[in-house]
Parts: sequence; structure tokens; C-alpha cells
Amino acid sequence: MSLEKTLYIGPFIHSDSLTTLDIAVNGMIGVDEHGTIAFIRRDMKGKQLPTEPGWEESKIVRLNARHGFFFPGFIDTHIHAPQYPNAGIFGKSTLLDWLETYTFPMESSFREVRQAAKVYNRVVARTLSHGTTTACYYATVHVAATNLLADVCLSRGQRAFVGRVCMDRLSPEYYRDESAESSLRDTEACIEHVRGIDPGFELVSPIITPRFAPSCSDESLKALGKLHQDSGIPCQTHISENKSEIALVKKLFPEAPHYAGVYDEAGLLTSKTILAHAVHLTPEERSLIKTRDAKISHCPASNTALASGCAPVRQLLNEGITVGLGTDVSGGYTCSMLAETREAVMVSRHRSILEDGSDECKLSVEEALYLATRGGAKVVGLEDKIGGFEVGKQWDAQMVTFAEVGETVGGLDQKEGPVEVFGGETYEEKVAKWVYTGDDRNTMAVWVRGRLVHCKEGFKP
Ligand code: GUN
Ligand code: ZN
Repeated sequence: MSLEKTLYIGPFIHSDSLTTLDIAVNGMIGVDEHGTIAFIRRDMKGKQLPTEPGWEESKIVRLNARHGFFFPGFIDTHIHAPQYPNAGIFGKSTLLDWLETYTFPMESSFREVRQAAKVYNRVVARTLSHGTTTACYYATVHVAATNLLADVCLSRGQRAFVGRVCMDRLSPEYYRDESAESSLRDTEACIEHVRGIDPGFELVSPIITPRFAPSCSDESLKALGKLHQDSGIPCQTHISENKSEIALVKKLFPEAPHYAGVYDEAGLLTSKTILAHAVHLTPEERSLIKTRDAKISHCPASNTALASGCAPVRQLLNEGITVGLGTDVSGGYTCSMLAETREAVMVSRHRSILEDGSDECKLSVEEALYLATRGGAKVVGLEDKIGGFEVGKQWDAQMVTFAEVGETVGGLDQKEGPVEVFGGETYEEKVAKWVYTGDDRNTMAVWVRGRLVHCKEGFKP
């Protein structure tokens, strides 16, 4: 698709390492007709325009330095699209009874394609409005509904990994795969569908999705592992979220050394594997995950809501494991990665409380934002394309805005937006205020590969 060459002029901020934000207050980013960043200037003055030949007639999107900044789009490394209607509904349950009481009944309703169309259009629109430019979705067992989720992501322009959920045992009669063979066959059908609508997997990619070890037979895990190894298609699953779940895995796989070993023996633990949660891993499991270079999706909102535990994120990072953030809707109550970033900081502080006030485990705002962007890009294997602003990367970005009290931005009254800036704050403080007090009302516009995919009503970038 050919786009208008565009110059984005204004402050831009992104993570340049785990601990630091790179802030260019007088910035300009040139994005070409393919949505790729062609050049970056950091020192624009006033209304000065670039002198690069061929860019004189470009479209300009300008943001006043006092009114916000451009930031990379968020990467949600773990979200269950069909569970969106249940977001915020979990009672007092914990993982295993929550699955039976809330999750399986909801997911089974996606046998109706009409239900899938209603929910999937909403969840993709809503996550885009929160600045999520890439999402790793779990769908359901249903082929038609899973294919529809891929169609919706493609037509709305969200970068996505879409997985048909595999579950051929220990699942309710009304919601399960018939057999290991049918599970594999249906997974392959969904992969072929995505290949048909997006042949190079440029925007939407399939992802092999065994739900978790307890709901997959040995035969199914091995068949999916072979498909993962032969095709190079990535894989996502859950690991070590809850202590009862871990005990169940021990019972179901008595020969396996541990939970991570179950996936490893099936060929499912590779550098293209995304493991959600990893709250209670043993040192041996962490070492194996590090050796295989498998990636972890940390889901703090979910881990608190389902009382699963506080994942030892600092330890994972110190051991060299790649970590990103996931909303895990609807174990997590929010589809907002901004809220998830805030939760990552808060859960790390709860972990600190549990560890006698250890400073070491606390995550800073900068570190949590790194996990939500550049860390997430590594988790999904797209660190060459997204996660930060560098020449050659794609323009997956959000325009974050806030008015100084008493002002307006882009002709819109921003008083409804929750971030209040008084003028004396540094950019680091403005970013912190956004993380702690902001929401989607502060997300004015969102782009994926240079295409505008969300925009606040009334605002014309
Ligand atoms: N483990 C297996 N299935 C699920 C799920 O849908 N959500 C969460 N949080 N954990 C799971
Ligand atoms: Zn999950």
C-alpha cells in the first residue's frame, strides 16, 4: 500500500535501553510511502523544515512541544480476544475454577460467527484506541471465528499474531478439540487462511497455540511441536501461572522434569516461543528457558486479579531472559497496555514488600515502558521492525497529548483527558504522569506501518 510521505514534527520519546528513555524535544521523523522511517532529525528549530530532496511536498503532522509527544506503539504479547466481554468479571476465583466458571462458557459462544464478529471488531478497535499497534491474540478452538479475527486485524490495520487455541483433553465436553489430529488439522487450516489473506505475514501472522499443558494430550503437544519446528511459525502458551496448575502438570506428566520440560520434550520450547506468566519457575526451568532463548510475557494485572502471584521480573531480566508485557484479558481486567505498564511497576513494588523492602526488584517507569515496547518487539521477534524509532523501522506509533491546564490541543478541548500538566514538569515527569494518570483519552492518534489506524473524533492529523 502506498501512503503519503509524512513528516512527524514534535517531541519524540522512546526507550533506548532497559533503564533510559531517549527524549528528542525538537524532533522530526520522515516516514516514507511504505510506512518506513526514512530519516530522523533531533534538532529542529521553530517552523524550520527539512532540506532533504524529495520531501518538500510531504504531509506534515505537527505536535506542539508543550502538548505531548510521539511514542512507539505498545506491543501486547498476550491477550485472549474472545474473553474481552468478561474483562472485569472474575469474582473471587483463581485460575482453574475461573477457567471453568467464566472462560470456557464465554469462549464456547464463538461457535457463532456473529458473536465473533461483534466481539473481535470491538476488541481490535479498542486496543488500537489504547495505542496497541501489535497484539498476540489467543482466539478459540473455532476455525471460522479464528479466521475472522485475522480478517478483522488485517482490515483495521493492527499488526497481530492470531492463534487458534488447541485443547484436546481435560476440557468440557461442550468446548474442546475432538482429537489431537483434528486439533492439528484445524490449526493448519487457520495458518493457511492467514497465508491466503496476508501471504508474506506482513501484518498478520499465525501462531501455534496449545492452550497450556493440562489441556493438551502428549500426542497433541508433540504434533504441534513438530509443526512449530518444521514451519518456523511461532508458538505461544501458558506456563507456571498458579500453584494448583503446577501441581496438576506434575500429576499429568509424572516423567517430565518440570513444567518447562513438558514443552521442551514436545519441541515447543524455542526462540520463537512466547510463554505467558512464568510466576513460579524453578531455577532449572529459568536456566532451560534461557538456553532455548524462549520469551516471557509478564502479565501483572492478571497475576494480581487471579491471585496467581508476583512474577520475579528482575530475576528473569538479570538472568538474561527476554520479557515483554501482556494484558492477558480477561484474567487481566484491562486491555490497556498503559494500565498494564502501571501494573508492572506496582506488582514489582509488591514483590519488593514481600522481599523485605528489596530495592532491586522494583521496576522504574522507564523499565516498564521498555517492556511494553522494545521488550515486546523482542518477544514477538520483530525487533528489526518495531519497538522504537530508528531509520529502517516501521512507523508503529502513537501521538500522546495533554493540554497544560487551561489550554487546548489540536482544536480539541482536552479537559476530559485525565493527565494534567502545569508547565513546570520535565519530560521524564510528563511521561511518569502519563503512565500513572493517563488513559486512552490521552491517545490522540495511532499509526501502524505509517497507516492511521485510530484517531480521536474531531482531530485531523
Ligand atoms: N491457562 C490456560 N488458559 C488460560 C487462560 O485463558 N488465561 C490464563 N490467564 N491462563 C490460562
Ligand atoms: Zn492467558
